[in-house]
Amino acid sequence: MSIEHMEQMETLLPEWLETSRLRTGQGEVASYIPELAKAARDTLGVFVADSQGKTIAAGDYGIPFTMQSISKVFTLILALMDHGEEAVFYNVGKEPTGDDFNSMIKLELVEPGIPFNPLINAGAITVSSLIAGDSPEDKSQRILQFFRKLAGNDGLDYNMDVYHSELETGDLNRSLAYFLKQNGVLKDPVEDVLSVYFKHCSIEVNCADLSRMALVLAFDGVDPCNGEKLIPRRYVQIAKTFMVTCGMYNASGEFAIDVGIPAKSGVSGGILALVPGQYGIGVVGPSLNSKGNSTAGVHLLERLSKEFSWSLF
Ligand code: DON
Repeated sequence: MSIEHMEQMETLLPEWLETSRLRTGQGEVASYIPELAKAARDTLGVFVADSQGKTIAAGDYGIPFTMQSISKVFTLILALMDHGEEAVFYNVGKEPTGDDFNSMIKLELVEPGIPFNPLINAGAITVSSLIAGDSPEDKSQRILQFFRKLAGNDGLDYNMDVYHSELETGDLNRSLAYFLKQNGVLKDPVEDVLSVYFKHCSIEVNCADLSRMALVLAFDGVDPCNGEKLIPRRYVQIAKTFMVTCGMYNASGEFAIDVGIPAKSGVSGGILALVPGQYGIGVVGPSLNSKGNSTAGVHLLERLSKEFSWSLF
């Protein structure tokens, strides 16, 4: 992007953000994980990072929130790094579902009975079970270390209140996991797998952390700030493809048409997005639409994409 565009973004982003913030009134904060209901509905923040270390931020970009489903992109990458493509895709498919993220319906209706993709809950629970490690604690520790490296932030940690809140109330995920266990997709005890899954969903970040993680994907697995190779290029390619086809759940087609960049949302209102070869972006806006995506966050990304012609398509 030209210096001119950067200057334009820096000048206009606060105004664009305030326009998008009006959309927060059209959604609701997630409450099925009780701890998430404490988030303020009118929050909206954004952080954009480029490869030269230049950053642009606006709104509530500093507030902490849990990664939730955004973490699924990176546990998939770690499972691929641990076991390779063949083993991972023996256990989880590569296709969008068109169903809600926590739906069980296709597990029973379509053979083989493996989850359709790694970004729906059933798929991500399966991926959690594939992370290498001698115990659930060991697996969780490896995930946390990997995320810290990608974010360039050794201080990343779990929000244990959110973890316990989901552990106590996540019976739909529990039922998905028992179904997968019954079908032989999960090998480990259900509660062990769920503790790994709920823990990576509860890793706490801010928009700057998300933008750094996204920047590594935008540069094919290399941290452009220090040249360190963190992820094999092929696995970034797989992750970015899933982000485009399934990253915004059953609104992924609409997002691809309106925004057109790889992105992944989480139910706490975070969105991680990237412009290949250019930017890593972190957004937070906990007011969600009916598909579980940030109403204002999607609106802001659409504005940015249109203003700067970011769409890949
Ligand atoms: O398993 C769950 O329901 C949450 N830990 C994550 C779901 C999520 O973020 C879906 N987001 N749109």
